[in-house]
Amino acid sequence: MADGKARRSRVPGARFGADRPAGIGIVGCGNISRRYVQGMRRFPQLRVVGCADVVAELASRLAAESGIEAYSSIDALLADPAVDVVVNITPPFAHASVSIAALEAGKHVYVEKPIASTLAETGAMFEAAARGGLLLGSAPDTFLGSAGQTARAAVDAGAIGEPIGATAFVRHSKAELWHPDPTFLFRPGGGPALDLGPYYVTELVNLLGPVQSVAGFSRIGAPIRTVTAPNRRVDTIEVTTPTHAVAVLRMASGAIVSTMLSFDVWDSHLPFIEVYGEHGTMSLPDPNGFDGDVCVHTHDAESWTVLDPVLPPSGASDDTSVQMLRGLGVADLVDAIDGEPHRASAALARHVLEVLEAVDTSSRTGAVVRVASTVDRPAPRIPIPEEARS
Ligand SMILES: NC(=O)c1ccc[n+]([C@@H]2O[C@H](COP(=O)([O-])OP(=O)(O)OC[C@H]3O[C@@H](n4cnc5c(N)ncnc54)[C@H](O)[C@@H]3O)[C@@H](O)[C@H]2O)c1
Repeated sequence: MADGKARRSRVPGARFGADRPAGIGIVGCGNISRRYVQGMRRFPQLRVVGCADVVAELASRLAAESGIEAYSSIDALLADPAVDVVVNITPPFAHASVSIAALEAGKHVYVEKPIASTLAETGAMFEAAARGGLLLGSAPDTFLGSAGQTARAAVDAGAIGEPIGATAFVRHSKAELWHPDPTFLFRPGGGPALDLGPYYVTELVNLLGPVQSVAGFSRIGAPIRTVTAPNRRVDTIEVTTPTHAVAVLRMASGAIVSTMLSFDVWDSHLPFIEVYGEHGTMSLPDPNGFDGDVCVHTHDAESWTVLDPVLPPSGASDDTSVQMLRGLGVADLVDAIDGEPHRASAALARHVLEVLEAVDTSSRTGAVVRVASTVDRPAPRIPIPEEARS
């Protein structure tokens, strides 16, 4: 499934494949839901069955546009045996409760980022999954795309030598300009750390391994945000979560990462992510997308080299958005149900949430926060053989 169009034939013993796709029920029919329907249709092992929302009209609209069933309630969706996996794309404050209800109904769950609005909520989610013998996966899945996997293969092959440090600049998505109601982005569970931070920290863990400790400073920038989106449902938002933070992450490998996470920096020339190795620098595209150029500049070279992608980019369609492969993480979960490595896993997402919560904790307490959880780097989709590593 290199580009999402790949054919996953049915292997003996597998539950799901092109001839028996996993039934997907979408809970939360808001802004991103259409991208999910489009994206998931590119994977033969997934079949979008239907959708539900607390606002029934939103479910009816998505269903009518997409040719899927609108359930009259979340409970009705959860009661349908045709739904094998619930894709939870509600706002962060509902991630835990909706995921737990779905797991208790016997469904595997893929939940958008952050996995929950607080780390404390994740315990009950993990318990519900374990009780039911079910898989819980979580966004982001962008690190599984062409750019993230190309960077991972290059790091593993030793293209820049041992990574010493990195920078990550979590820039503003300017949601006030396009999201009909970005209130949740400026409330606890949102902010640049929890809204966009997961893309960056997940990519850093993909490349460098787990985070060991965090030191950070954060603050609220503008206390009131003005929404100018043409189809807005709110005009102003009172900000109750930090919108500007800087942090240093010490990775278990010894690499040191400097980060800025901000909804107050509207424009900048800073790069998204750079990794500094003993032999050179690697520059990555926006980790909130699946594609883009990964470039390397070794100390002895005169210029940057754009690396050949190890996986084809997600490609053009009627929608050239970088978000068009939404659903790759759902396919990853379905493949994991059939025994393949679970890459966009809840364990990875929980570690990332703990790291991002630690930025604010460190700012409030003035202490360096030790990260209690650890996680293995997710298995690469294109493993580099030992003999090819330098
Ligand atoms: N908008 C984006 O571009 C984008 C991109 C990537 C990820 N995400 C993530 O996707 C999730 C949803 O974002 P969005 O922008 O679509 O939000 P949204 O507010 O537009 O949509 C969320 C939907 O969930 C519904 N909902 C709320 N509580 C519910 C509950 N308990 N049960 C069922 N439905 C409920 C709401 O009625 C709403 O229709 C968030 O976690 C966000 O971080 C959004």
